[in-house]
Amino acid sequence: MIYAEADMNTEPLRVDGKRLRKSLESMARIGATPGGGVSRLALSDEDREARNLFIQWLREIDLEVTVDEMGNIFGKRPGQNSELAPVMSGSHVDSQPMGGRFDGILGVMGMLEVLRTLHEHRVETRRPLVIVDWTNEEGSRFSPAMMGSGVWAGILDRQWAYSRMDLGGKKFGEELERIGFKGTSPCRKWPVHAYFELHIEQGPLLEREKRILGSPEGIVGILWADGYIQGKANQVGPTPMEGRNDALCAAAEMILRVNELPGKMGGNLVATVGEIQNYPNSRNIIPERVRFTLDIRSWDDDLIRRAWEEMKRDFQEVSGRRGCPIRLEEIWKVEHAPFAPHLVQMVRETGRQLGLEPLPMVSGAGHDASYMNQIAPTAMIFVPSIGGRSHAEAENSSWEDCEIGANVLLKCLLKTST
Ligand code: GLV
Ligand code: MN
Ligand code: MN
Repeated sequence: MIYAEADMNTEPLRVDGKRLRKSLESMARIGATPGGGVSRLALSDEDREARNLFIQWLREIDLEVTVDEMGNIFGKRPGQNSELAPVMSGSHVDSQPMGGRFDGILGVMGMLEVLRTLHEHRVETRRPLVIVDWTNEEGSRFSPAMMGSGVWAGILDRQWAYSRMDLGGKKFGEELERIGFKGTSPCRKWPVHAYFELHIEQGPLLEREKRILGSPEGIVGILWADGYIQGKANQVGPTPMEGRNDALCAAAEMILRVNELPGKMGGNLVATVGEIQNYPNSRNIIPERVRFTLDIRSWDDDLIRRAWEEMKRDFQEVSGRRGCPIRLEEIWKVEHAPFAPHLVQMVRETGRQLGLEPLPMVSGAGHDASYMNQIAPTAMIFVPSIGGRSHAEAENSSWEDCEIGANVLLKCLLKTST
């Protein structure tokens, strides 16, 4: 038995890159899409299949598995002193529709590989280690994102989460039960000594700067809202162009205003309309109703607030001019999350020890680390996304970079758990 104490040498320990690749490839077969991506929407049959495989793998290395009331899956490896708060790491197995093979799953498989390595080499740590798969990180089928970690951290309400509906009218709580993952252990935070999340960058910076490792200082703030526009349906032929109340035209103008706003406001703002439903969606009916989603992000929470106010004014102007009333529902807001400086520093030093120079950056993507950061010291480890592509079938990262990321995670876990 190796004791991973300061005076014992665990420095040569490395993860098994081939085994990590095999786990990622196995997971990529669940919900595989024709273009090389995955569709593993939260609480779908594919999500269930990935969860079952994950649990099987946790049991193979003797972890104590629990599933909580939100379907979050935890695997605990005891420490020499199990009274101590554990060090935790993981991410999510759910994906976007037509998403990639690395988003989320790398963080879960990376931590699994770390635990397999410790198991294989019979390394003991002083603190327990916990691996986690957070439910519904993506927020695509059921909004908002980061739901499992948000409820666990005590920030989102569990009953509200259960009541969230997908576009087909299915409720989150019912779907959680249907896939057999409405667990019995309370979805409630416990003390965590440190939380790490390994993830692909999902942007172009690492590749552009020719770096293999990114060490984000934190995650941007995010605001999500839904807009419902009411128009008036009519026959397209006999109805003159003047005086129409075309909900889709109103939406089109609003969407362009959203797209133009970051350029006008400056700063590091991004704003996107990514989803739209048009009713009744017929070639020869003037659109009666439109629903669209809004996603605003920035490191500067106040800039998000001002942009949102500006957008509301823009929407009202378009809505009044076109005679199409709009209802806006703000559904989710999470403030920017500056990570624990000592852990960010640890990721950087660990990278340097492995011969790399990590790139300081900010995560423009949301992660469960954002909610974890509100209850425990947190940091992330980023590896490059080829071509900066993510949330797309084309998402890709090199196996070597994934292995390097997992080795950084291994070292950081050893440093914090001994
Ligand atoms: C989560 O994947 C996000 O939207 O950033
Ligand atoms: Mn992710
Ligand atoms: Mn994602």
